[in-house]
Amino acid sequence: MQQYNLFATTSRGLEQALAWELGHIGVKNPQIVSGGVQFEGDQETYYRANLYLRTAIRVLLKIKDFPCESYDELYARCRDIDWLEYLGLSNTLAVDCNCRNSALTHSQYGSRKVKDAIVDQFRDKTGRRPDVDAKSPDVRINAHIFNNHCTLSLDTSGESLHLRGYRKLIKEAPMKETLAAGIIDYSGWDCNVPLYDPMCGSGTILIEAVLKAANVAPGLLRREFGFHRWRSFDRALWQKLVNEAEQKVKRNVTCRLYGSDIDADAVRTASENARAAALVDRFIKFEVMDVMQFHPQADSGVIITNPPYGERMGEKENLKDFYKGFGDVLKHNCKGHTAFLLIGDTELVKSVGLRTSQKLIVYNGPIECRLAKFDVY
Ligand SMILES: C[S@@+](CC[C@H](N)C(=O)[O-])C[C@H]1O[C@@H](n2cnc3c(N)ncnc32)[C@H](O)[C@@H]1O
Repeated sequence: MQQYNLFATTSRGLEQALAWELGHIGVKNPQIVSGGVQFEGDQETYYRANLYLRTAIRVLLKIKDFPCESYDELYARCRDIDWLEYLGLSNTLAVDCNCRNSALTHSQYGSRKVKDAIVDQFRDKTGRRPDVDAKSPDVRINAHIFNNHCTLSLDTSGESLHLRGYRKLIKEAPMKETLAAGIIDYSGWDCNVPLYDPMCGSGTILIEAVLKAANVAPGLLRREFGFHRWRSFDRALWQKLVNEAEQKVKRNVTCRLYGSDIDADAVRTASENARAAALVDRFIKFEVMDVMQFHPQADSGVIITNPPYGERMGEKENLKDFYKGFGDVLKHNCKGHTAFLLIGDTELVKSVGLRTSQKLIVYNGPIECRLAKFDVY
């Protein structure tokens, strides 16, 4: 079986969780780098990675890497690759490019150069060229230019893996499914105690928690991955892996999860999202509630939540009182519980007024956040 250099991308801060996951699907020696994990494997490995990984955003398959200090060099090196190996005339393509710390600074121009090299090569060899489809291409190519070195990869995932398929209805500022899954990993929650999200928004944290507890591979909820449209797609192998993943689903888990939010629309959205994710909604009880009234149902449990950030000036002062108020709720109502709060500002962590027993830096999109753990005695 041909071996490939593979790279799974994730939100910064979740690399360790992703490496654990790769270990669980049988990958040997995963190497953590900022923003992702490198590993090696065959076709089955990257099929499995797309099907099972909860914290990965994309799985990239390296075609070639080379030094690159100019757009002309980028074009010339891309023309050296035999693109007919990867796509045919009837396939559409798109090129994603990102440049960091390099002489090349314009990602859009970089992606145009790669695309030009591919279509010019097709014209020379066949007299015709494949079309570009930026939104839903058959083959998505990734050019990562860092420190004047370009890594060209095929994107095996297609659409970002955080798009599981259950979140049809998007409320404002939802957390990526991949981030929610990583936080659940770090929290160590298992089904033995209740799990609460008292500011649940669209319900992502709770839905991801049930999917993990019931061992539902996130890829089972999606219809398509990038490699499904490749010439090399092995449908029988893919179906075998899907059947295997379906056998692993635990249909008899018993867990108790509670979601609440002050916004009735958010609660409705969360319930609909939970219904759209197979198996999930019967484990989660949602209600409309102000977090200041929050009171857990048992003597011990885990609280994981993502309070409002307030990015605008002026909002922060009000938020300090809000975080202090929530800290008081934790102190008075939640003894015996462990709380994990994803907070977008270090000062707001202090406003909670409880000692953190652990803090981890993770990124929610571009926002540098703290995942703060509080043990409430
Ligand atoms: C950053 S969002 C949470 C997003 C959520 N993790 C998701 O994935 O959709 C913060 C949530 O806190 C809720 N919220 C704000 N003030 C609240 C309060 N006093 N009580 C309960 N929920 C509140 C908002 O309605 C919003 O849904």
